[in-house]
Amino acid sequence: MHQVPRAHAVDGEDTGRMDNVSGTIAKSGMRSEGDGATRLGNIVDLRSDTVTRPTVEMRRAMAEAEVGDDVYGEDPTVNRLEKRAAEIFEKEAALFVPTGCMGNLIAIKVWTHHGVEVICDERSHVNLYELASMSAIAGCMPRIARGVDGILSWKLIEAVIRPKIYYDSQTALISIENTHNMAGGTVHPTASVDEICGHAHEAKLKVHMDGARIFNAAVALGESVRQMTKKVDSVMFSLSKGLGAPVGSMLVGSDAFIEKARIYRKMFGGGMRQAGVIAAAGLIALEKSPARLHVDHENARRLAEGIARTPGLKIDPAQVRSNIVIFDCQETGKTAVELCDVLREKGIWALDTAVYSVRFVTHCDVDHAGIERALAVLAEVLTQPQRARA
Ligand SMILES: Cc1ncc(COP(=O)(O)O)c(C=O)c1O
Repeated sequence: MHQVPRAHAVDGEDTGRMDNVSGTIAKSGMRSEGDGATRLGNIVDLRSDTVTRPTVEMRRAMAEAEVGDDVYGEDPTVNRLEKRAAEIFEKEAALFVPTGCMGNLIAIKVWTHHGVEVICDERSHVNLYELASMSAIAGCMPRIARGVDGILSWKLIEAVIRPKIYYDSQTALISIENTHNMAGGTVHPTASVDEICGHAHEAKLKVHMDGARIFNAAVALGESVRQMTKKVDSVMFSLSKGLGAPVGSMLVGSDAFIEKARIYRKMFGGGMRQAGVIAAAGLIALEKSPARLHVDHENARRLAEGIARTPGLKIDPAQVRSNIVIFDCQETGKTAVELCDVLREKGIWALDTAVYSVRFVTHCDVDHAGIERALAVLAEVLTQPQRARA
């Protein structure tokens, strides 16, 4: 039994009700090692890193947050969060937005106008999972490049830039995703990002980074987000994924970019009032969570190694660089939906991402024992004899 619409759901967009998840989570509020799923009752929820619950510290900060009307720029907690994000990325300014999708759309809207094209990887979130907002709202066409494991290079981008001919629609923006979700958390080398930006700027194009999981990329590369994004024109990153905040994303960039972004945030209905209540949790996520992301990466690698040893499942553990683990299940004779269903019955929640492709995402609410449990259940369901159908 599952409540998730099975159209290859991604990242909590349609992740169903959580009503069979233990209510003890909020009480403990600790991220401790335990029985395998400390903060999610008996469920090991590996569907996405969006499913995490705020810690006691976050909840306390939310309750006590100093607030004001952020549409008037008067919320001190939001202002602090924006200032810290800009400092950490060494950009001029930042803007708190309700979601990553809105952040990406705002950036696209700032950098483009109707009738131009946005170059992005074919499996990027902006292309596949944002309800065609770049077309429906910003009036742009996605111009698809096929990244290698989701990773675009200048060579791949250059090949799809439109010639400067008046009867061709024109390229305006390049969007790169770091880490790349549907390619399994792959990471853009910073030298390649710098090269893309250098050439793009020469060609008068802007570069936006969908860095929903950029802090995971930073851990994988052993670099700072500042280094990794110094040449990009705008970055969106999520507070509500690996960093564990309940709500929110950030845009960072120049003063001029953020000034325009603020206008579009309001136009898109994202002007929030006493948003300090959620920004307070975001501040804790931003300051504290990056230091623990390596644990999620170790857990992802452990999962991948176990999956590689499980009959019928295919993955190359060396390809797992961050917290996303995508594996092939075709040889098991089960589709991804069927496999997710049997796992779910045993308390292991995963997402099907294609007919024979299953995704696990590690995060702060699943510990080492949870990973071991997920592997044990996988082995159990794939080795036990099939029940004959009546
Ligand atoms: C790479 C990437 N970009 C953007 C988003 C959108 O974030 P949100 O769910 O906060 O709108 C997601 C979330 O799934 C994502 O994985």
